[in-house]
Amino acid sequence: MEFSVKRGLPQKQKSACLIVAVHGGKHLSAAATALDKPLRGALSRVVQRGDVGAKPGDTLLLPDVHGIEAERVLLVACGRRDGISAGDYAKAVRSAAAALKTHKLRSAVSALLEVEVKGHDLAWKVDQHARAAAAAAYRFDEHKSKPGGAVPSRLGLLASDDDAPAVREALRRARALADGLKLARDLGNRPGNVCTPTHLAETAVELAGRHDKLECTVLEEAEMETLGMGALLSVARGSRQPAKLIVLEYRGGSEGDKPVVLVGKGVTFDSGGISIKPGAGMDEMKFDMCGAASVLGTLSAVADLGLPLNVVGLVPATENLPDGNASKPGDIVTSMSGQTIEILNTDAEGRLILCDALTYSARYEPAVVIDIATLTGACVIALGEHASGLLSNDDQLAADLLAAGERSGDRAWRLPLWEDYQKQLDSPFADMANVGGRAAGTITAACFLARFTRNYHWAHLDIAGTAWLSGKSKGASGRPVALLFEYLATRAG
Ligand code: BES
Ligand code: MN
Ligand code: ZN
Repeated sequence: MEFSVKRGLPQKQKSACLIVAVHGGKHLSAAATALDKPLRGALSRVVQRGDVGAKPGDTLLLPDVHGIEAERVLLVACGRRDGISAGDYAKAVRSAAAALKTHKLRSAVSALLEVEVKGHDLAWKVDQHARAAAAAAYRFDEHKSKPGGAVPSRLGLLASDDDAPAVREALRRARALADGLKLARDLGNRPGNVCTPTHLAETAVELAGRHDKLECTVLEEAEMETLGMGALLSVARGSRQPAKLIVLEYRGGSEGDKPVVLVGKGVTFDSGGISIKPGAGMDEMKFDMCGAASVLGTLSAVADLGLPLNVVGLVPATENLPDGNASKPGDIVTSMSGQTIEILNTDAEGRLILCDALTYSARYEPAVVIDIATLTGACVIALGEHASGLLSNDDQLAADLLAAGERSGDRAWRLPLWEDYQKQLDSPFADMANVGGRAAGTITAACFLARFTRNYHWAHLDIAGTAWLSGKSKGASGRPVALLFEYLATRAG
């Protein structure tokens, strides 16, 4: 998807389609008003007849217009003239993008930046508009033998001369984010036989090759052994694919700036292991590396934009499969921290690979550590597909992440991490068990991780419900790349 800034009068925009706002089902926006005269009152007639709905996001395409440079006009209902909510603006730009796709229009110029949004500035509108367009145009057809039809590929954003520089700058950021999101979605959507731990490592190496400030190191199983990563390695035992610990270092800040460390769960297929999962829907466990994908996607965006801060991405990557050599319920392993773990359920593998990566994180003397993981089915039950679960040992970090989620429209919701829950992890044989029973499954998973993060500021994002969609529109969402990118951009100032 290509984005550009357009200047000049609405009626002079040469495009397959010009997108303009209508307010309250009956008032033309400024751009629509400018078109009305050359169109001999066509827009005011349409609006007076009540042909455009009043619900934000209602659209009407005028497929054949004469008197202006554009070939078509797409009217989009945008609520009240004096300002609409963030949610309504998101709806409006999303349905504009959907309408372009439905009508198979490859390019358009939009005048929707003129719509007032309560509590948000121009840059925010550019971000929302560009993301909606990129999301609608996204398609994963790497494994289709025949490519699908055309999708929208160019969007111009109409801006006043005064606004143009700000829009141009916001678009630079939107492009970086859109590319990062695409990387995360592509990795998520790739099947388990393609997207292996090795594939994740190769992708990270390639990414680092494209950016001066990005460096990639991949630790092999032998090195994990030396480091004492017994928990991570216990998950990899059942797989014929070698596990990898991917380290991506982005140096955009000064030498002494403590980095933000992002740790992403990279289980490229989770069968459950010996505690094998039921067959129905098991294909979706190829998405169990979406945390890893979000780390790579975020680093791609950060490096593209050249944000002035240091970020480290850590991805423990492995498959979780049953095998004669696989870990069994009751097995006890020693983590890199020295703490021992009784594996009561081999399907609670995410926390086993994360705990060693979290211990490893400490060597960076991090400002904060954030892990991102499709960790618990319980989180899907608690929050559904709308919010990622957030648990943290630091109120400021939690507040910053929640705020970044709100601003970017990629929301999270905090759950408690009280000590009271810790006893659910008691084991008669080891320092802890890897599961804490059915009650509060998302919280006890985070409690497990908390035992490895006591020495730094840490937050955990459980993205089990948000990382992908099921059903008819099955596919990776790219979440929470937008949240993480927003958090880092804000930190960078
Ligand atoms: N990857 C799954 C979590 C998951 C399940 C994400 C369904 C999205 C949809 C994770 O490894 C897992 O299997 N967790 C178990 C933990 C349990 C054994 C304590 C779960 O949630 O059932
Ligand atoms: Mn599992
Ligand atoms: Zn898993």
